[in-house]
Amino acid sequence: MTVLVTGGAGYIGSHTCVELLNAGFDVVVYDNFSNSTPESLKRVMQITSKKLSTVCGDVRDKALLEKTLEGCDAVIHFAGSKAVGESVEKPLEYYENNVYATLCLLQSMRRMNIKKLIFSSSATVYGNPEFLPFTEAHPLRTTNPYGQTKLVIEEMLRNLHVSDPTWSIAILRYFNPVGAHESGLIGENPQGIPNNLMPYIAQVAIGRRQCVNVFGNDYPTKDGTGVRDYLHVVDLASGHLKALAFLDRPQCTAVNLGTGKGYSVLDVIHAFSKACGKEIPYAILPRRAGDIAEFYSDPSFAKELLGWAAKYDLDKMCEDMWRFQCQNPKGYEE
Ligand code: NAD
Ligand code: UD1
Repeated sequence: MTVLVTGGAGYIGSHTCVELLNAGFDVVVYDNFSNSTPESLKRVMQITSKKLSTVCGDVRDKALLEKTLEGCDAVIHFAGSKAVGESVEKPLEYYENNVYATLCLLQSMRRMNIKKLIFSSSATVYGNPEFLPFTEAHPLRTTNPYGQTKLVIEEMLRNLHVSDPTWSIAILRYFNPVGAHESGLIGENPQGIPNNLMPYIAQVAIGRRQCVNVFGNDYPTKDGTGVRDYLHVVDLASGHLKALAFLDRPQCTAVNLGTGKGYSVLDVIHAFSKACGKEIPYAILPRRAGDIAEFYSDPSFAKELLGWAAKYDLDKMCEDMWRFQCQNPKGYEE
């Protein structure tokens, strides 16, 4: 079976390519390298001792995409833009690269009669919690343009499936992916100052930044800092393989991929400190605009439907993240 992976050179895509190759799939990566480098794919091949095909292209380039789709059986669609803050400043660019690009992909897939798709959604579609843990039945409403693009795409996929029930679509709502492959060869490679907590902590630990800014310690949580459901990226990648098996049945289903456990910012700092064997200096700052106090998943539907559950704990996430950071102090640059 041949799988086309859009955005396959990125953080989650590269880890998923490793799992796909190890499971014996043929993999075609389609990426414009706007937020990645071909180096990650070289390393995927190094880890697996297997080859994948790479096409440097934009999802909006339907002619090239259709040519690339020839001979493929299914698509995993990671490509897109993902920074919440940037989406507030550049909403049109986010609608273009997320909503419009996905529309192009769907039109191309329909033309090529390929109707199996896994889409990367996000827990951000649940917005402020009405109840916790988030089940897939939680109302959908989001608080930022990035989240809005994910919601629009989800609706587009549900509409498409109603119009043609032979499509088989898995919408995966990721919680907070962190960590790296245990080889230390691939991991998250943020450009500039990291927005997310774990890569920021890793850069403090390696000495690239002075101290972690903790955004608020007056939330109604166990220690006052924000609580999230952190998930090892390798567990997340394996969730995509389980979802591929499920695509044998035509349907359109949204599934949470999380651990079901919430950890505070201070829990993460302490776990990372244990993993790297150093104190991690931190300072308490005011809350970050738009942040939610606490959210975590109910992962039971993923278990029931896909037979998937996360295996790795917070300590393993930090150990693997630290190994990648030590082996690649400046990301893939060196
Ligand atoms: P990433 O930026 O590392 O990977 C995205 C990849 O897509 C990059 O390689 C980039 O070059 C490529 N790309 C972007 N626009 C493209 C286009 N128009 N044509 C072709 N390639 C294009 O991001 P990631 O963290 O691996 O996230 C993958 C997906 O998962 C995204 O859709 C993101 O919104 C979603 N997601 C990520 C997180 C997270 O925390 N990382 C959480 C929830 C959902
Ligand atoms: C962010 C995105 C979300 C996306 C997710 C992917 C926002 C508002 N939301 O979520 O849409 O799906 O990333 O992982 O950006 N924190 C600090 N200091 C930092 C960075 C973060 O204290 O330097 C805190 C935050 O306040 C939060 C927690 O750490 O409580 C996690 O933050 P982050 O890693 O940015 O993830 P989310 O906010 O959950």
